[in-house]
Amino acid sequence: MTEIADRQTRAHAAVWQDYLWSVGERGDPYALLLRAPADPYPLYERIHARGPLHQSGLGTWVTGSHRLANKVLRDKRFGVRRTDGEKAPEFMPFDNSMLGLDPPHHTRLRKLTVPTLNPRKLVRWKPRAAEVSNELIDRIMRGRNEFNFMSSFAQQLPLQVIGDLVGIPDRYRRLFFQLSRRMAYLLDGVATVEVAQDVQRAIAEMTAMFVDIIEMRKADPQDDLISDLLPAVEDGRLSMDEMVPLCMFLPLAGTETTVNLIGNALRALLDHPEQWEMFKADPVSLAPAVVQETLRHDTPVQQYRRIVHEDLELEGHLLAADSELAICAGAANRDPEIYPDPGRFDITRESGPETLSFSMGIHFCLGAALARLEAEIALAALAERLPGLRQVGPVRRRDSFIIRGMLQFPVAMK
Ligand code: HEM
Repeated sequence: MTEIADRQTRAHAAVWQDYLWSVGERGDPYALLLRAPADPYPLYERIHARGPLHQSGLGTWVTGSHRLANKVLRDKRFGVRRTDGEKAPEFMPFDNSMLGLDPPHHTRLRKLTVPTLNPRKLVRWKPRAAEVSNELIDRIMRGRNEFNFMSSFAQQLPLQVIGDLVGIPDRYRRLFFQLSRRMAYLLDGVATVEVAQDVQRAIAEMTAMFVDIIEMRKADPQDDLISDLLPAVEDGRLSMDEMVPLCMFLPLAGTETTVNLIGNALRALLDHPEQWEMFKADPVSLAPAVVQETLRHDTPVQQYRRIVHEDLELEGHLLAADSELAICAGAANRDPEIYPDPGRFDITRESGPETLSFSMGIHFCLGAALARLEAEIALAALAERLPGLRQVGPVRRRDSFIIRGMLQFPVAMK
């Protein structure tokens, strides 16, 4: 970045922060949410109190209604790009990835990954997830009684599994881990200029790494996503400019999210000792319910956005083309119209309508089955092998309004 561009970026960031601050000071719940509070749930209650749809002082339309969000996500009049084809600034990191594209490009890219990512195929990662979970627990048991659950366990498992799935060779694993951790800040939304610059550098290094790996796989295809995609490059269904972002997007979409699903689930269980005891009595059968309730109660992806593609009327409001609509999944999952006593964490809850944790409609998460499978296996292994787990210090959270999770979660084995 040139010095002038750098100064402009800093100036824009400062103006935006001032504006955000002043709208928040007027009590606007959405602007307050963008300050990434440690507990966003009281703000979601204020969003519910404003009805199914309201316009924030920042201009963004906001919904926390499960019913309305579900409808919007399946409505073709909403997309992720502006009507002139430009991406909305918030989607910049996902430029050429599925998440940043509308049909028909989105449809074409998504179709290409389905053979590798369909739920039937993803089941084959079960033994690998169990193997990695057990290795990590072995290592924890050899170490100190107190440890940071996030770095020693939760951050490790999803990266190992996605590394295998995408096809990262052993000699690139360490680099892949380091770059993925740095890129994870992309998901945090509003960032400092320093973080944004470091993420850009990590993307450049990751791109170079993938170009090398793709060459290796061309010469020696394996059973992985990169090798599965190569025929599409050869017959022109996928360009090389799309292949690298596609491969790079998966570690981004599939790790930090799953990391925090595992972390948030363990935290909720340890916070509710009677449910932790119940889970430990029958971990394998109860793991799916624990994961489902964590996704509802404290989802790792708290919000995503859509762009209105044409002037339209919604819930009695007129929305102009190109306006933004924030879908607060964290609020929709605690919509009192859908889930009784929504703030209560309860692994025996009767299954209600599907949460919005993995979105709905054409962008529905392609890794949902894998994320569930990994988290279920990990939590069952922890309950069986480390039943004495308890929290021993304050947590440190990610500074993010999008990703809800922890960086530090100090626990002890006994
Ligand atoms: C708990 C873990 C996860 C959560 C909460 C999560 C959540 C989401 C959400 C909310 C979206 C859609 C956002 C929108 O509609 O704008 C999404 C899309 C996506 N996710 Fe996940 N995800 C998780 C794990 C994974 C994993 C493990 C993978 C890959 C193996 C993955 C791959 C994707 C992809 C490729 C998309 C884009 C789909 C599209 O645009 O058509 N995700 N995810």
